[in-house]
Amino acid sequence: MKRNFAPLFRLWHWTMALAVLGLIGTVLLRKTFLSKSANAEIIRQKLAGFSITVDPDQAVAVAKAIRAPMWEWHYILAVVLGVAILLRIVAMLRGDAQMPIVKLVQSEGLMEKFKSLIHLLICLAILLMALTGTFYYFHDALGIAKDSARWAKELHESLFVPLLILILLHIGGVIRHELTTKECIVSKMIHGE
Ligand code: HEM
Ligand code: HEM
Repeated sequence: MKRNFAPLFRLWHWTMALAVLGLIGTVLLRKTFLSKSANAEIIRQKLAGFSITVDPDQAVAVAKAIRAPMWEWHYILAVVLGVAILLRIVAMLRGDAQMPIVKLVQSEGLMEKFKSLIHLLICLAILLMALTGTFYYFHDALGIAKDSARWAKELHESLFVPLLILILLHIGGVIRHELTTKECIVSKMIHGE
């Protein structure tokens, strides 16, 4: 297929992919190796071996302190994601990228429609995660009580698994395209032509 991707479009795509994959990485670390409850238990057990007793809250506080520098990257990468969203807006204004909904309406054939739908859902999920995450992060500064901002945190968290599935479908689709056509779509997404 005769298609090429403008430099700004490619810059947007890879900046966003880097940010989102990194953000997912921080969440996976938070839920596994740096889980506060699992590590608090290890801290309690190890200290008990040295005849030092700490209560569960103290152990959780230590586990959270160990996790904190890693979780900072969630916010650093959130800024990178913000830059990617701006790049996409500029790319759309310059005509280097389409609005995902316009692409869905204009695409022809069932397969193209399905692909465009996945792209649209990925963009929507990422946008919603960025908005809810930013809102929850700044709830104090906005003078909003933690309890009143909880819906944003819950929505942010509940979008995680659907986004993960959409990204796996996307990467699977790209690999399938790469293997079943001669378009070399991944190279095009790297060097344009
Ligand atoms: C978190 C990671 C990623 C996200 C969120 C993501 C998101 C997207 C989105 C939304 C589009 C549609 C752009 C548009 O036409 O408006 C797209 C296109 C594309 N992505 Fe990704 N992507 C990711 C990772 C990757 C990876 C790892 C690869 C390569 C293996 C890749 C290769 C491509 C290609 C080749 C296209 C063009 C598809 C086409 O127009 O037929 N993406 N990506
Ligand atoms: C695609 C991008 C993102 C993904 C996949 C993602 C995922 C997640 C997940 C799953 C959690 C819950 C972690 C847990 O409690 O186990 C979380 C928490 C959070 N995220 Fe994101 N996030 C993304 C983008 C953002 C952005 C752009 C911000 C903006 C600052 C942000 C701010 C937050 C905040 C404030 C929390 C709550 C942390 C806490 O409870 O201490 N996230 N994120």
